[in-house]
Amino acid sequence: MKALVTGGAGLVGSSIIPRLLARGADVLCVDNLTLGTRKHLEEFSSHPAFRFEEWDVSARDWHKKLGGGARFDLCVHLAANSDISLGHRHPEMDHQRTLATTFETLMAARELKIPNFIFASTSAVYGANPAFPTPENAGDMHPVSLYGAGKLASEAFISSFVENYGISAWVFRFGNVVGRRLTHGVIYDFTARLRKDPAELVVLGNGGQTKTYVDVEDLTSGILHGFEKSPAGRTHAERFQVLNLSTEGTTSVREIAEETVKVVTGGKAKIRYGTEQTGWVGDVRKTSLEVSRIQKLGWKPAHDSTGSVFKAIRDYNEWSR
Ligand SMILES: NC(=O)c1ccc[n+]([C@@H]2O[C@H](COP(=O)([O-])OP(=O)(O)OC[C@H]3O[C@@H](n4cnc5c(N)ncnc54)[C@H](O)[C@@H]3O)[C@@H](O)[C@H]2O)c1
Repeated sequence: MKALVTGGAGLVGSSIIPRLLARGADVLCVDNLTLGTRKHLEEFSSHPAFRFEEWDVSARDWHKKLGGGARFDLCVHLAANSDISLGHRHPEMDHQRTLATTFETLMAARELKIPNFIFASTSAVYGANPAFPTPENAGDMHPVSLYGAGKLASEAFISSFVENYGISAWVFRFGNVVGRRLTHGVIYDFTARLRKDPAELVVLGNGGQTKTYVDVEDLTSGILHGFEKSPAGRTHAERFQVLNLSTEGTTSVREIAEETVKVVTGGKAKIRYGTEQTGWVGDVRKTSLEVSRIQKLGWKPAHDSTGSVFKAIRDYNEWSR
């Protein structure tokens, strides 16, 4: 198998690439290193079946650099602006880095006739107040972040490319993904704040936000499990498959703040909470995903939500020193 992985130098990419290599795949990773780093690729960068290119996949016709003879069986499209709060400050960001990256990668798949397309979507497509736990067929979807909008629009383009150009797609809507090679998010942010000021941790919001978290190793085993156990069929629904992917439980920001303070400062820092129910504009107060669809395929994560978070706090603290 030959696999093209966009955004592979980030948290999820650096976990899924070794899994693809272990399955005997040749892997080309394309990343412009806006959030990812070369350090994330070190453990497999000398593998003979691995190649890296520092390219921007939101650029028109970026795939032409591959040459017309390039052949891939699978595209794993991960490149995006994964930092939700950044989108509020820079509205053009998610149009360019979350939607244009998808559109141009779909154009690559069409041009190079890549039959299989895996997409990293998110619970943010559901918006602020869906039913909990939220099923894949949740009905009205009104994202409240530009990031969620970029992902939902991406899903719509993928669905139309499936119908028009013979591609089969697996759309995974992730919960919050955590692990040691973090590039953004609550653990990354709390750790940085505490290293700057070990006496006090200022938390955005009142700490009551509760979200579903998943360990990155569980997540990437789940992506490949879903892809392999649910092959594409003939109908549109069988060639455009949508699966929530996370743990069943949730963890509060308060629990994350307390554990990060313990790990990073030995419990010495005071925690100062805000008064708002959310951390920033576009943040949601709660996420909880209905995951029976992926579970019915036989996938089960090794860690629950809080176990994933606590492990990531320790691992990231070690890794990022
Ligand atoms: N981490 C999470 O909690 C989470 C949750 C839901 C969905 N997702 C999605 O999963 C995917 C992977 O997430 P992650 O946590 O590994 O994020 P990440 O930021 O660690 O990785 C994304 C990678 O995309 C790269 N990238 C961004 N714009 C690019 C461009 N124009 N061209 C080439 N590369 C580009 C970045 O440099 C980075 O390495 C993303 O699409 C993200 O939106 C992540």
